[in-house]
Amino acid sequence: MAKSSGGSLLSSIVLQRDTKQSLQYQLYCQLRDMILNGQLMTSERLPASRVLATELGISRTTVINVYDRLTSEELLVSKTGSGSFVNDVFAQQQRSIATNLEDQATNTDPKNSEHPLLSKSFIRKSKLQPKPIQHSTSQTFSTAMPAIDVFPLALWSRIVARHSRLTNLTGYNSSKGSKALRQAIASHLHADRGMQCNYQQVYITSGAHQAFSFLAQLLLDPGDKVWIENPGSRVALNGLSQIDPELVPVPVDDQGFDVKAALALCADFKVATVTPSHQQPRGVLLSLARRLALIEAADSANAWIIEDDYDGELFYNHEPLPTLFSLSNSQRVITVGTFSKTLFPALRIGYFVAPMHLVASIDKVINSFLPAVPLPMQEALAEFIRDGHFATHIRRSKKLYIARYQAILSSIELHLSDYLTPIPTTTGFQLLALFKQPFDEQEVASAALQYNVLVRPLGNYCSKAVTERGIALGYGCTSVVEINSAIEKLSLVFKQLLAKQQ
Ligand SMILES: Cc1ncc(COP(=O)(O)O)c(C=O)c1O
Repeated sequence: MAKSSGGSLLSSIVLQRDTKQSLQYQLYCQLRDMILNGQLMTSERLPASRVLATELGISRTTVINVYDRLTSEELLVSKTGSGSFVNDVFAQQQRSIATNLEDQATNTDPKNSEHPLLSKSFIRKSKLQPKPIQHSTSQTFSTAMPAIDVFPLALWSRIVARHSRLTNLTGYNSSKGSKALRQAIASHLHADRGMQCNYQQVYITSGAHQAFSFLAQLLLDPGDKVWIENPGSRVALNGLSQIDPELVPVPVDDQGFDVKAALALCADFKVATVTPSHQQPRGVLLSLARRLALIEAADSANAWIIEDDYDGELFYNHEPLPTLFSLSNSQRVITVGTFSKTLFPALRIGYFVAPMHLVASIDKVINSFLPAVPLPMQEALAEFIRDGHFATHIRRSKKLYIARYQAILSSIELHLSDYLTPIPTTTGFQLLALFKQPFDEQEVASAALQYNVLVRPLGNYCSKAVTERGIALGYGCTSVVEINSAIEKLSLVFKQLLAKQQ
């Protein structure tokens, strides 16, 4: 005779009378969960409806309705004259739950109990991530947000709406991307960045992030050596790390990536990834001499260079230096670009440009390895670029960035000159300011957040500790008035931290 669940069942059911959920629904959910998680074992008999109703102080009809529902869902089986039983079909599921619980209880390896069933590689990579900055709705000094305040939203919405109706929505679109958008990007790169490339060399991705993930698969084998900037972009680091290469952090100075230091660390690299037009986060340009030295090093090692040109269009007053892509005669440079900085990050559209000799190999695998970006958005963006709205928006944004850059420098000079030395920049909308005194970066970032000011610790960009300390400040979407007020708040933060230290 099957055992009745009576006592243990009754003691674990708790019904609340002061909630919106009916007693019937509460009882149903609790019994269902007990069956699914193995608290009520298969073949166990449930108490008679009258007994359960009396014990719980509810009507018998309520219990009968719940038993009927569980029976119709095949969680219970009703046997005439004997009562209701947990269905046998759950035996296997309940056994595996019990085994898992046992395994977890006896598992003394803290790594595994912290991350059950995850790959070792994933666990190791997740440990490399910087401490997340506390969540904030504030965008003041966000390094990620461009001048969304001058983005022509109404115009953009009209174009998107039109392409949502026009685009052929009935099939899968090619992962390589819309021809119209690839043509528009190739023309833009020619006009704005002096790059000679054909639209067939352009591949559309969901932002630079996805371009790096794909390029990791294309170019790397596990254990290959990769030169990365230190401090440097986490976008490249996260994407390339997916293949488990050996990362070689290379120092960066006021001329950018230090090629000599890289060669001294390891000459047989497979990929180098750099931000030549605006070093992330130092903000400096990679000098022409270093560009040539890097290409020479890649030629000698038969290696690839990935050039992250994430905001190269946003240079202020100078003429930009030629891209590595343009300088490399041997065609070993792949350029990654994004619309996250020139338009807005939620668009999730970026691209990479490959040398012509790689195109056939990439085209063979692209539909299998890269998910396509939604076609209507690609077509809308193609029109936006083709009709000149993109170039107009870049011109307008640049004017704002120059004004905001000057405002932030003056305000730092006025209020923070005892604490910060900003490193001058000539592109984009973010700058690095180094500490003049030994503050803790995370402490500064947390204290600033109390004033709704978002600053990024320099350490968040480092894959290997550096001696300098500082914070990155973005001024893409922060007006001059907000900049002045936020810098005053930062000065309070430094004063308070200093007082605490004394
Ligand atoms: C160095 C760098 N590259 C690229 C990107 C853009 O990435 P995505 O296009 O995936 O938004 C960013 C964004 O913050 C960045 O900092």
